[in-house]
Amino acid sequence: MDIGEFNSHASVRFNHLFYDGVDTVELASHYGTPLYVVSESAVRERCSSVRKAFLEKYPNTRAVYASKAFQTLDMCRIIDQEGLGIDVVSGGELFAALKAQVNPGAIVFHGNAKTLDELEYAIENDVGRIISDNLREISEVERIAARLGKKVKLLYRITPGVDSHTHRFISTGSLDSKFGIPLDSSVRNDYMRAVLNSPHIDFRGFHFHIGSQIRDNFSHLAALGVALKLIVDVHTDYGFDVSELNLGGGFGIRYLPGDPETELGYFLDPMMQLIRFEMEKAKIPMPMVTIEPGRWIIGEAGITLYELRSVKTIPGIRTYVGVDGGMTDNIRPALYEARYHAISANKADWSHDTVVTIAGKCCESGDILVKDVGLAEPKPGDIVAVFSTGAYNHSMASNYNRIPRPAVVMTTGEGRHRLSVRRESYEDMLIREF
Ligand code: LLP
Repeated sequence: MDIGEFNSHASVRFNHLFYDGVDTVELASHYGTPLYVVSESAVRERCSSVRKAFLEKYPNTRAVYASKAFQTLDMCRIIDQEGLGIDVVSGGELFAALKAQVNPGAIVFHGNAKTLDELEYAIENDVGRIISDNLREISEVERIAARLGKKVKLLYRITPGVDSHTHRFISTGSLDSKFGIPLDSSVRNDYMRAVLNSPHIDFRGFHFHIGSQIRDNFSHLAALGVALKLIVDVHTDYGFDVSELNLGGGFGIRYLPGDPETELGYFLDPMMQLIRFEMEKAKIPMPMVTIEPGRWIIGEAGITLYELRSVKTIPGIRTYVGVDGGMTDNIRPALYEARYHAISANKADWSHDTVVTIAGKCCESGDILVKDVGLAEPKPGDIVAVFSTGAYNHSMASNYNRIPRPAVVMTTGEGRHRLSVRRESYEDMLIREF
């Protein structure tokens, strides 16, 4: 298959994989491997699609980028320039977003077990929204806001009780979930009373997020149905009209050449229609609608380059090729059985007919990056490119086996590239130790 059909920022020139017009083999030799390469132009294109398919298409809408997918100062600045807000889930993510000078009002703060320090930090800095996940937190927010003389805009996250069709580790919407507030009327009434009676809480509405890498729109629509029923119930029972509804993220992307491309509109158009329909029927004003895409913005924008270090053929069983990275830079295959596509970046024109399993360098048999993929006559010294590694790779990287985390290079089209995050050194890894 033509690699450009799979990833429009990839092309083959002079037998090398080019990414955003940059020779990846040169990138590997210039910056070293493993190397995360993120196309800034791809990120900006995705943001532009969010604007066209959602923000400009529907009035009174917002989009915040779920920065847990990939958070760097550079990325926060790009997202901010593109007119999207930032979703954070910890004091650390909030700190970075503020350091990048993101407008605090455009920040949405999530978390099922936020600490008091985190809540204080968020409220002191006037974050745009706090998404509350439990009753105790609501009273803590009220107390802190009262002390600081602030009024906090707050939504609460519901558990819609729908199963999303994705790996169970990244499914969050079912009833048995650590996330969200169940909607049994007993629980719901306590919540509603708490938020409506808190003078320092400006209660805006509800949030749901049902999981990640979801390819069909059924579970989003089912969850939305539950949220809309709640909006109508709250209107009837409390005479309160929510002013905001946050639909979360979870929109799936392409990992393998056979995966279909999914437009945002496939998820969002029927959802927006359903919201309008139910609100008109119940004579409730349209709430502001927010989405929180993470993977959809960054996932396909990133590739990872590795140097191939070993080739081991077990006759009649399989050929392992070992690369100089692994589960420390991409935990997703080990954690979620995630599948990826890879090619030989320095032999990109050759036929990729040697079927191999790409193994990482960690002391774990489960450290397998890609199973059964065709490479081109693999030899030590080759550069292997793995696609769609932008989301939840860099942000979930670790130092297991004291392996330094890779650098991040951003490409900006027309052959330009810049170092965005430098490679971790051995010294960096000891910096906290006495
Ligand atoms: N909003 C909330 C409240 C979330 O919890 C998440 C992701 C998102 C938005 C963004 O979801 P996305 O659009 O990226 O699917 N580490 C896992 C994914 C965990 C997702 C956690 N929450 C993975 O690598 O697949």
